[in-house]
Amino acid sequence: MKILAVESYGQNAELSLLEAPEPSPGQGEVKIQVEAVGLNPVDAYILSGNYALRPELPFVPAFDGAGEIVECGSGVSSFEIGQKVFFLRPYPGAAASMVVVPTACVAPLPRGLSIEQGACLGIPYTTAYTALKKVGGWQSADSVFIHGATGAVGGAAIDWLEFWRDNKNDAHPPIIASAGSREGLERLLTRPSVSIVDHRDPDHLSQAGRLGNGEGIDLILEMNAHWYLGKLPNLLAKEGRVVVVGNQGSAVLNARDLMVRHGSISGVSLFLVDPEERKEILSDIATAPMGTWNPEVGEVVPLAQAGKAFRGLTSGETHPKWILKP
Ligand SMILES: NC(=O)c1ccc[n+]([C@@H]2O[C@H](COP(=O)([O-])OP(=O)(O)OC[C@H]3O[C@@H](n4cnc5c(N)ncnc54)[C@H](OP(=O)(O)O)[C@@H]3O)[C@@H](O)[C@H]2O)c1
Repeated sequence: MKILAVESYGQNAELSLLEAPEPSPGQGEVKIQVEAVGLNPVDAYILSGNYALRPELPFVPAFDGAGEIVECGSGVSSFEIGQKVFFLRPYPGAAASMVVVPTACVAPLPRGLSIEQGACLGIPYTTAYTALKKVGGWQSADSVFIHGATGAVGGAAIDWLEFWRDNKNDAHPPIIASAGSREGLERLLTRPSVSIVDHRDPDHLSQAGRLGNGEGIDLILEMNAHWYLGKLPNLLAKEGRVVVVGNQGSAVLNARDLMVRHGSISGVSLFLVDPEERKEILSDIATAPMGTWNPEVGEVVPLAQAGKAFRGLTSGETHPKWILKP
């Protein structure tokens, strides 16, 4: 079978396509023929060598993928050979033609999604769920501002909010979503549930504040805290919360802006999601009605061109969702 191997760290990290022996599933594991691998910004951070997670070289990168079950280990009764699934590995290793994954990290491919869309679910949807519900304490009456809503996590957050809304069938507080790229803006225009602000407009935070329910925003998901964190507390309602999802550096803020509204700031890390919780989130994704999820596939390239995809991941503020095909 083929594996993508990272052989050195750094800006010019060396990637090789190698032959490797096929793994066998152990107890509670399934073997999956991988048909699509979804890359996330964290995969590029790890390749840089400057990230907290620094696997020993050589290693197989990427966490997210989708494909078909080809073998079930002992004790596995919830999956069957031939079933299409998506997975979120707890540790890198998805960029291969065959993987072995514990069943707790695998779920049936939601109906109506392509295999490439399946590879876009794991990290973005688990992160968005955790940021909104677990860390952000989302309640159905909350107004939400997704600051950076055109990327994979932002899009997933919109999907979750629309899903929970539909389930609850109650009054709909505002969802405010920011876009900067033309493609992103076009994507958000197809989502009637959201009010859009353009984050390239220097006045966009005030505009977002005005789109709240009149008394400030209850919950903000922030994808670029290094630029904005100091300005967000002033947008919050009483007891409003900022959840930092993405951050590339330090920020300055005046804590009084939090004190005067009992506001709070917290951060989310995908790597702290409890395995049982992750299993439940993947199951929620798998069992939601058809049409609930709208993951955006960007560029699809063969595994042999992974270098292009990794360079694309770090080439600028805006990038497509990269998919590798083994
Ligand atoms: N904490 C965790 O566990 C965790 C997990 C997953 C991801 N993340 C982080 O979360 C962030 C988003 O991940 P992703 O996969 O959604 O990345 P992505 O697909 O690259 O999305 C990036 C988002 O940031 C927006 N953006 C770019 N420039 C901006 C600006 N000046 N002001 C406001 N927004 C701007 C982009 O909008 P336009 O392109 O429309 O400008 C886009 O919506 C990344 O930093 C990633 O590392 C963290």
